[in-house]
Amino acid sequence: MNAENLIYTLNVNGTDREVKDSWVGESLLYVLRERLDLPGSKGACEQGECGSCTVLLDDDAVCSCLVMAATAVDSTITTVEGLISDTVMGETARTISDVQAAFVTEGAVQCGFCTPGLIVAVHHLLDKNPSPSDIEVKEAISGNICRCTGYGRIFAAVNAVIESRGKIQK
Ligand code: FES
Ligand code: FES
Repeated sequence: MNAENLIYTLNVNGTDREVKDSWVGESLLYVLRERLDLPGSKGACEQGECGSCTVLLDDDAVCSCLVMAATAVDSTITTVEGLISDTVMGETARTISDVQAAFVTEGAVQCGFCTPGLIVAVHHLLDKNPSPSDIEVKEAISGNICRCTGYGRIFAAVNAVIESRGKIQK
């Protein structure tokens, strides 16, 4: 494999996307934002410390700043943009997810820089564990740093989703 001028394909949000003229060391975060026009994932520390760049890589929530994009060719990648639903009750429509809506209605967004990573982390948690304890919620988002909210509104948003999904399942 040449280190420069790579051409490879990533499956992002259910679509195969070709990456051209890439350098082997480019992070997944860089490729998503700068080459594939998906700026939802945010870059802050770029050292795996803040979680603002969190995406789903297959079944794992990962810091995309720590993943070399070229190593993700055999994986499925979901970014915060991919959590928007294209269909609602069989009709074509673009709508935000329940987690995204809860962050808005519960006031869990201030500057919003941490929000995409938190949204992905919360989806990952609730898809695996629909009824997490408070400690499990805290553990799940412990890698996502928010400088604005003090986390109270974020926990309220997560609890609102847990409650509404529980009602739907009953
Ligand atoms: S930008 Fe990736 S963890 Fe901070
Ligand atoms: S809302 Fe500003 S960092 Fe979280």
